[in-house]
Amino acid sequence: MNDTSKTAGAAATQTLTVTDNVTGKTLELPVRQGTEGPRVADIRRLYSDLGMFTYDPGFTATGSCESKITYIDGDEGVLLHRGYAIEDLAEHSDFLEVCFLLLYGHLPDRAEKEDFEQTITMHTMVHEQMRTFFSGFRRDAHPMAIMVGVVGAMSAFYHDSTDIDDPYQRMVASHRLIAKMPTIAAMAYKYSIGQPFMYPRNDLRYAENFLHMTFNVPCADLRVSPVLARAMDRIFILHADHEQNASTSTVRLAGSSGANPFACIAAGIASLWGPAHGGANEAVLNMLREIGSKDRIPEFLKRARDKDDPFRLMGFGHRVYKNYDPRAAVLKDSTDSVLDELGVRNEPLLELALELERIAREDEYFQKRKLFPNVDFYSGILLQAMGFPTSMFTVLFALARTVGWIAQWKEMIEDPVQKIGRPRQLYTGEARRPFVPLGAR
Ligand code: ACO
Repeated sequence: MNDTSKTAGAAATQTLTVTDNVTGKTLELPVRQGTEGPRVADIRRLYSDLGMFTYDPGFTATGSCESKITYIDGDEGVLLHRGYAIEDLAEHSDFLEVCFLLLYGHLPDRAEKEDFEQTITMHTMVHEQMRTFFSGFRRDAHPMAIMVGVVGAMSAFYHDSTDIDDPYQRMVASHRLIAKMPTIAAMAYKYSIGQPFMYPRNDLRYAENFLHMTFNVPCADLRVSPVLARAMDRIFILHADHEQNASTSTVRLAGSSGANPFACIAAGIASLWGPAHGGANEAVLNMLREIGSKDRIPEFLKRARDKDDPFRLMGFGHRVYKNYDPRAAVLKDSTDSVLDELGVRNEPLLELALELERIAREDEYFQKRKLFPNVDFYSGILLQAMGFPTSMFTVLFALARTVGWIAQWKEMIEDPVQKIGRPRQLYTGEARRPFVPLGAR
């Protein structure tokens, strides 16, 4: 392959020349430059012109779509939503404002913000019949199992927002999903611990309302701490979107066939459930408990370096970030303020995590491979301190990521080049062979 750059006037037209050494055919592919990030070769003509597919398991070098929502520079540790740095959004914004930004592309002005908050608040209740739907689940069902089922079932409750060709219905579905997800998540939790469901309250803000529905009970009126509500809101902001990860790509792929948005988001929740994606913060807590004390850190680092040992340092490393995950830095700060608020001094797991991070970052193995703490390294400690059981960690991730999924789904539906997602394959099975009758096998 030969990469050339031609300048025509002010605009640079780049191409990538591909030569098939078997047939001698040559193809010039257009190369596109995004606003940020590496150049992207448009290979769509590869099969029609050269009769060849590309092979890229795990899509490590494949862009599946054009997007204007989120940009990640993994080498520099940069995460931008619609051009705004995640650190700035976590510091100066709030989750609903970030939702508006992801959905509509700009920060809302005062009137837009009020209107959006009002709309979301007015959609937080779920259809009353959904309460009985919950009782079909076993009490010991994992809350993620309930989430997959109940969110998928929303398509059976909200028929008037399932027509994907109607922009108004798409908007209503987006608002319903963002508004009702905290209610459904809290109901999944309440059901699993045998407590009555708490209705949402319109006088509370988004994160505060979620904490109320999760931790309050009808016989008491516990006030939600503003520090905890702010920490929850920040956690939601940090997980709101992360471009074309496994669950988002799942939502886009499911949606590319024309499936309704509720079914697509249920597919995203299923993909998020796996330990390699949404379940890693739980694994971090288990690992810290297993390490137990600071003097055992070298022993576990040795295991992490050993290629014959399957042990990996959980919460370290990332497919895209080869630098400090910017979300981990914000979470580390939030952890301190939450522990302060809760009056927790010298939390042993946090002390252990800080020391583990310090030693690992001085270790040549981790330095050489650019393995830094990722978002999951501190989130488990924080969520546990806030009172969430580990089974709820991925549910909280799903709640926050819903806006990212729905923004990406909407962008896909509105993209004129959108078509059903249908990857090809490198077939290595049997070549055509004659059928053998049963008696002759
Ligand atoms: N501990 C020890 N070694 C590691 C770790 C780790 N956590 N992560 C990567 N490595 C090593 C690999 O063994 C490999 O070494 P080698 O080059 O000598 O063979 C090298 O670093 C590159 O690792 P890959 O597995 O090729 O990187 P990949 O991008 O496929 O994996 C992943 C990324 C899955 C996140 C990995 O770093 C990992 O397993 N981390 C622990 C689990 C975790 O924290 N997951 C959460 C990710 S964040 C999220 O999903 C929200």
